Amino acid sequence: EKGGYASFMLKEIADQPKAVADTLLGRIDASGTLHLDEVRIPPSELREVDKVVIIACGTAFHAGMIAKYAIEHVTRLPCETELASEFRYRDPILDRHTLVVAISQSGETMDTLMAVRHAREQGAKVLAICNTNGSTIPRESDAVLYTHAGPEVAVASTKAFLTQLVACYLVALYLGQIRGTKWGDEIRTVVRQLSEVPRQVEQVLGTMEPVRALARSLADRDTVLFVGRHVGYPVALEGALKLKELAYMHAEGFAAGELKHGPIALIDEGLPVVVIVPSPRGRSVLHDKIVSNIQEIRARGARTVVIAEEGDEAVVPYADHLIRIPATPTLLQPLVATVPLQVFACELATARGNEVDQPRNLAKSVTVE
Ligand code: F6R
Repeated sequence: EKGGYASFMLKEIADQPKAVADTLLGRIDASGTLHLDEVRIPPSELREVDKVVIIACGTAFHAGMIAKYAIEHVTRLPCETELASEFRYRDPILDRHTLVVAISQSGETMDTLMAVRHAREQGAKVLAICNTNGSTIPRESDAVLYTHAGPEVAVASTKAFLTQLVACYLVALYLGQIRGTKWGDEIRTVVRQLSEVPRQVEQVLGTMEPVRALARSLADRDTVLFVGRHVGYPVALEGALKLKELAYMHAEGFAAGELKHGPIALIDEGLPVVVIVPSPRGRSVLHDKIVSNIQEIRARGARTVVIAEEGDEAVVPYADHLIRIPATPTLLQPLVATVPLQVFACELATARGNEVDQPRNLAKSVTVE
């Protein structure tokens, strides 16, 4: 059942190109129009939505943080992403014009389920993004868009995360299509870019040996930091979460701009800092800012591990280790940038003698609040 892999996690990491392709399958027609017939909320109601609120936990929350960028960009609707476990305690402002998107691999996470119930009691419409057919969260939601990652057995979420991102982009485009903020060519362009992702993930997976070697060389460290900007920030949080849960190391993700407001004091000689670099072709100001962040942390002695697009030469002088990823549009970069971080955490955990499929103290679905 592990298909020759040493762990379910390794198998599920390797399954990602297919999981992404399966999640796209049948949802876009030859003309590039989206058909999400499963989303049984009438277009007339979706046109009246004036705010989107995303709720989720853990890795699914990181997918939701990235989705906020995509939804706001495509629909121009305000969108907030909130931890499901915090949501109902602050008396959130919801009404029938609010679309709540609940993201959950298992569909059984109690924190997310309680947030869904709270949202519906306030009259909001709830769309679930879920990987498990017939689970509780989709049953209690107004509609569901399933991710087609296949069963995820390893406790640490990998292929579910990538497919959650794909589903979120589809929701963003679908809302854009219905509301008329994006149509025709623009949607076709993003759809074409999404359809290239399986091949790009495959390409990343084929170049992971240096990442594994680096992970093994860091097995006796205490701390690893992760830094990103824009959609690279949730990717940094996800890289840190994977390392905590699998390698039991102190790992933290920061928004690069926040470093100077405190965390930069953590940096000393030899501290590994992983930096996710946005595309230099997209919004170049983001890229330039990150390059100066890398210089700053390296000047303070950090050992920099730089994840950057192929052909980005500006980062080369400041990278102690350089991990290349294929060129993608900025919003889609998390789909390729997360993969090396999954491999890194899995290898580092194995090098520390940990059981990667069943980390200590954790369960695959958290059914208590
Ligand atoms: C991390 C991980 C957890 C889950 C979280 C939500 O690798 O697996 O953080 O992402 O418990 O689970 P679901 O998506 O099932 O609601």
